[in-house]
Amino acid sequence: MTAPTSLSQDELKTLVGRAALDYVVPGEIVGVGTGSTVNKFIDALATVKERIGGAVSSSEASTARLKALGIPVLDANEVASLSVYIDGADEIDGRGYMVKGGGAALTREKIVAALAQRFVCIADESKLVSVLGAFPLPVEVIPMAASQIARRFESLGGQATLRLRDGRPLVTDNGQHILDVRGLAIGDPLAFESEVNQWPGVVTVGVFARQKAHVCLLGTAQGVRTLK
Ligand code: 5RP
Repeated sequence: MTAPTSLSQDELKTLVGRAALDYVVPGEIVGVGTGSTVNKFIDALATVKERIGGAVSSSEASTARLKALGIPVLDANEVASLSVYIDGADEIDGRGYMVKGGGAALTREKIVAALAQRFVCIADESKLVSVLGAFPLPVEVIPMAASQIARRFESLGGQATLRLRDGRPLVTDNGQHILDVRGLAIGDPLAFESEVNQWPGVVTVGVFARQKAHVCLLGTAQGVRTLK
C-alpha cells in the first residue's frame, strides 16, 4: 500500500488500523487493545463484524467502542485462546519489544495478549525506537506501594511520578494507580520486565517483552511497513 508523503499522524493510524484487518481470522474472536490507533482498528473491524465471532477487549474504553459499533464483546474468561491480538504501542524496537500503557490499560492488555498466539502491533513510525525508555514507562501499582516502588526506580536512575487526572490520582479499570517513570534506558527488556514484576505492589510493568509483538504494522510516509 502506498501513501502520499503528506499524511498526518492520525491518517497514519487509520492506515495501519485498516491494514490490521488482514490479520483477522474469519469466524474467530479477535483480541483488541486500547488507544487512538486501536480505535481506528475497531472502526475498520466494524465493517467486517458479520465475519468475526466477536472480540475480547483490553479496556472499558475499547469495550464501549466495540459495543457501540455492534461488535459482541466476550469476557476473557470465556476464551481459552485467540489467534490474534491487535494493539498499539508507545514505543517498539526492532525486536518487537514494546513500552505500553500510555492509555493506562497495560494490565488488561498483557492479559489479553497472553491469550493470543500472535501479537500484531499497529503504530505510526514515531513509535519505532532503538532503545526503549524515552517514553515515560507506565507501571500499574497498588496505591499503598507507590512511594516504595518510586524509590526503587530512583535507585535505577529513574524518576517516577504518580499519573494524575483532573488533579487526582488516575484510577485504572482495575482500581489501581499508575506511576510514569522517566530517565530509563531499557537495554534488556526481558530481564527488566522480570525484575520489576517481582517488586511487591507492582501489578504490571509496561514493558512488553514476554508478550512482545510478532508483527508490527508501521505507518510511514511511504505506506505500511511490516516488521517481523
Ligand atoms: C494503552 C496503550 C496504547 O496502545 C498506547 O498508549 C498507544 O496508544 P496510541 O495508539 O493512542 O498512541 O498501551 O494503554
